[in-house]
Amino acid sequence: MKYWQKIATMLALALSTLGAMPAHAGEDAALQAEKALAQESICTRCHDESEQKPILTIKKSRHGVKTDGRTPTCQSCHGASEAHVQNSTHASERPLVDAFSAREKATSKDIEACVGCHNSGKRSHWQGSLHERAGVLCTTCHEMHTHKDKVRDKLTQPEVCFACHKEQRALYTRPSRHPIKDGKMACSDCHNPHGTSGPTLLARDSVVATCYTCHMEKRGPFIRNHQPAQEDCTICHNPHGSTMPNLLKARPPFLCQQCHEPATHQGRIATLTGSNANPAQAANTLARGCLNCHTNTHGTNNPANINNERTMRR
Ligand code: HEC
Ligand code: HEC
Ligand code: HEC
Ligand code: HEC
Ligand code: HEC
Ligand code: HEC
Ligand code: HEC
Ligand code: HEC
Ligand code: HEC
Ligand code: HEC
Repeated sequence: MKYWQKIATMLALALSTLGAMPAHAGEDAALQAEKALAQESICTRCHDESEQKPILTIKKSRHGVKTDGRTPTCQSCHGASEAHVQNSTHASERPLVDAFSAREKATSKDIEACVGCHNSGKRSHWQGSLHERAGVLCTTCHEMHTHKDKVRDKLTQPEVCFACHKEQRALYTRPSRHPIKDGKMACSDCHNPHGTSGPTLLARDSVVATCYTCHMEKRGPFIRNHQPAQEDCTICHNPHGSTMPNLLKARPPFLCQQCHEPATHQGRIATLTGSNANPAQAANTLARGCLNCHTNTHGTNNPANINNERTMRR
């Protein structure tokens, strides 16, 4: 590299980091915004609203807040792209930009620009997360040059996830499901797709803690707990969808009999109902099965401690 080229590269680098730098305390926000604008004009003299895919819509997103000193310029994400800027030959021969080239698939190296600014809070477990390791990139889910990023709108978010997670798409067509399709809830109410310290990219450290964020009445404390309900809701529920009511994985008595031994009435098999039925057995089959009597499956506050009163029947 020639001496003057080195100087030019260093200058470009300095310029690009300047764009990424937060405002100095006390520095006039207006001045800061003006500097950023001057830097962006290097690109915006050629790229503007007239493009097939409008570029300046980014100014309507959080990446366009002029008064915020942390706001990225074109160069913070795309790099200084000296060669691209200076080339004056035919458009199609214009060298690619340094990062996020639309003509090349985004690479994990590109993502360093995003991670440089977004490495705390909900994004602090990105490195080594399931998505990162599987090669899913920030820009696989997020669109930058728009003020309507699909993945951050509850109503359109599932579309983005379903593109890869077909099994969940199928489960959400079942009769019992969370109100995802209605836009009242999103995958991200239970999952943090950026990575977590808990299992299965769950938003909280465990399944129960995640479910308690909305179903706090299931946390208790209860005087008498039902052990599995304290441990993991997915023992009995499929969080995404089920053909059984209440997102259950199986219908009582079968659900309960997976654990409760065939001793006493617990083990009575489901039977035909009607005039010839054994009434004791039919009670396990009819209507809500075991739940006909054991109404508080998640735990009870009934204080009595005699045989008949500790069985979550009230
Ligand atoms: C927050 C990071 C970020 C900033 C800031 C940013 N871009 Fe982009 N840009 C991207 C990404 C990522 C892509 C790839 C396509 C996509 O995800 O939208 C892209 C795509 C493009 C494209 C190609 C569009 C196409 O689909 O053909 C152009 C041109 C472009 N950016 C120009 C600019 C200009 C000019 C600015 C400054 C006004 C700018 N970008 C600011 C991240 C950014
Ligand atoms: C002199 C005009 C000009 C300037 C200045 C310019 N570009 Fe471009 N840029 C173009 C043209 C023309 C294309 C279309 C090239 C093509 O499609 O082959 C393009 C394409 C792009 C693309 C999409 C193609 C690719 O390389 O991935 C991006 C992204 C981009 N420019 C970003 C920038 C950024 C960021 C800056 C400022 C640092 C900038 N451009 C400055 C003219 C310019
Ligand atoms: C120079 C620093 C910087 C860079 C580089 C940067 N961002 Fe941002 N980003 C910000 C700031 C500042 C905000 C607004 C405050 C916040 O939400 O933290 C923001 C907001 C966002 C938001 C929320 C937008 C909204 O409307 O609420 C998303 C999503 C995002 N960035 C994704 C990305 C992605 C993906 C990249 C890489 C393509 C990227 N950012 C690159 C600084 C940056
Ligand atoms: C698998 C899809 C997916 C990937 C990959 C992804 N995100 Fe997100 N991102 C989301 C969803 C969904 C939301 C909205 C829910 C939320 O805030 O957690 C979001 C929200 C955000 C926000 C805004 C948070 C706020 O407070 O409004 C930022 C910033 C962000 N993502 C940055 C990034 C960065 C940087 C990367 C890459 C390191 C990335 N995302 C990768 C799906 C994704
Ligand atoms: C580009 C494809 C893609 C997109 C889009 C995507 N994912 Fe993923 N996701 C993956 C891959 C690949 C894995 C790695 C594990 C696997 O193979 O299932 C994964 C893993 C997961 C896991 C953990 C699975 C486990 O076995 O522990 C969850 C939860 C998840 N994604 C949720 C989401 C959510 C929510 C969204 C939308 C905001 C989303 N994903 C968008 C590809 C994607
Ligand atoms: C009500 C909370 C909740 C919602 C909403 C939710 N999930 Fe899950 N998801 C879970 C739990 C809990 C698990 C762990 C399941 C297990 O361990 O059996 C899980 C597991 C997964 C897995 C790993 C595969 C598996 O079944 O174990 C993927 C992939 C996934 N979810 C994707 C999604 C997508 C995509 C959405 C949105 C369309 C979504 N989830 C919405 C709670 C939820
Ligand atoms: C963001 C809030 C939220 C979280 C987190 C959440 N739920 Fe829900 N849950 C709801 C809403 C809303 C409904 C629907 C209530 C209605 O339709 O009246 C619901 C309904 C249910 C139902 C009854 C479904 C039916 O068919 O009537 C079950 C069972 C359930 N949730 C279990 C869980 C489990 C297990 C978890 C943790 C994996 C969980 N929920 C996490 C909000 C949440
Ligand atoms: C031992 C199996 C089992 C476990 C474990 C379990 N549930 Fe349930 N759940 C049920 C049954 C059975 C029903 C139906 C109850 C009924 O019809 O009275 C139900 C119903 C529900 C309902 C809808 C009706 C209502 O009571 O609000 C929600 C919400 C719910 N469970 C949340 C949870 C959460 C959250 C967890 C984990 C903390 C959990 N469940 C763990 C068996 C279980
Ligand atoms: C994953 C296994 C599992 C499933 C499924 C399950 N249980 Fe349990 N259940 C237990 C365990 C473990 C205990 C605690 C046993 C003990 O303390 O001796 C318990 C305790 C009970 C008790 C109190 C017994 C006592 O002597 O105090 C009742 C009643 C009960 N379960 C009913 C049900 C019903 C009804 C269902 C179906 C909706 C069900 N269980 C599903 C594991 C399960
Ligand atoms: C007709 C009402 C009724 C139905 C239906 C019913 N139970 Fe019970 N269950 C009771 C009563 C009453 C007790 C307490 C007296 C006793 O110990 O027999 C009890 C006690 C229990 C106990 C405590 C240990 C024991 O055997 O005494 C368990 C566990 C249990 N039931 C599980 C189940 C399961 C599983 C089902 C469904 C297959 C079921 N029950 C259906 C009324 C019922």
